[in-house]
Amino acid sequence: MKVCATIPEARAACCDARTSRKRLGLVPTMGALHEGHLSLVRAAKVQCDAVAVSIFVNPTQFGPAEDLSKYPRQFDRDCRLLEKEGVEILFAPAVEEIYPGGAVTWVVVEGLSEKLDGRSRPGHFRGVTTIVSKLFHIIEPDDAFFGQKDAAQLAVIRRMVRDLNFPVEIVACPIVREPDGLAMSSRNAYLNREERSRALVLQRALQKARQQFDAGERIAAKLISAAKEVIAGEPQVALDYFEIVDPDMLDPVERISQKTLVGVAAYVGTTRLIDNLVLEP
Ligand code: PAF
Repeated sequence: MKVCATIPEARAACCDARTSRKRLGLVPTMGALHEGHLSLVRAAKVQCDAVAVSIFVNPTQFGPAEDLSKYPRQFDRDCRLLEKEGVEILFAPAVEEIYPGGAVTWVVVEGLSEKLDGRSRPGHFRGVTTIVSKLFHIIEPDDAFFGQKDAAQLAVIRRMVRDLNFPVEIVACPIVREPDGLAMSSRNAYLNREERSRALVLQRALQKARQQFDAGERIAAKLISAAKEVIAGEPQVALDYFEIVDPDMLDPVERISQKTLVGVAAYVGTTRLIDNLVLEP
């Protein structure tokens, strides 16, 4: 695996990979890799001839009161995992490489960036779309792989790719869960034992919504209120949002008549977790 710390090194390695082989896949990450990330790498290995992974804890997508400094960093372990998966290129730049002093240019997907997680994390998606567009310019992948767990992020990135004509196919990969149903996340590492068990309420709330949907309920407000009752049963968990939205525009729907995203975000202690499912009538 070629480890590149600078943009010229990464460009050269990716250019070589694209010329000698055919399709280049990119898996953008912030490190602290888990099975969810590795499932993206595996999907990329199937679909592409060479795979590049980026590890960059992107400061611009963290708010001033968020967990940037304590975000888990496990670079050596991550490298070993990626080597084992047969990744060809790892791009792991320093912050100054990506954001030289005086940079004032941002990529913003207006409208979508203020919905769901963007509402509770102002500026978050501006940071995400700026770093992802930089990565697309540097790596020039044919395909880029993202987890369905970050469903709002996926919608924002898809819209950016469409609006700015990036020649990249966005591939969404299914949520990977722990055996008890908790969606895998680097932030799960913050949870103590009690919080870890309380965190399962997100999954229970989503399942409640699914059960009611499977029983024929189509009114979003009814599903939301049933799910919120489940969350309220875990008083140590503070709900951020439980919403039922159009998966592309992220606008709330009243009645579920087509493919619909059910998303939840909640604080378990100080850790903000998200999860979602898709309903299809
Ligand atoms: O999903 C993530 O890990 C990050 O938001 C991403 C896409 C790597 C951008 O920093």
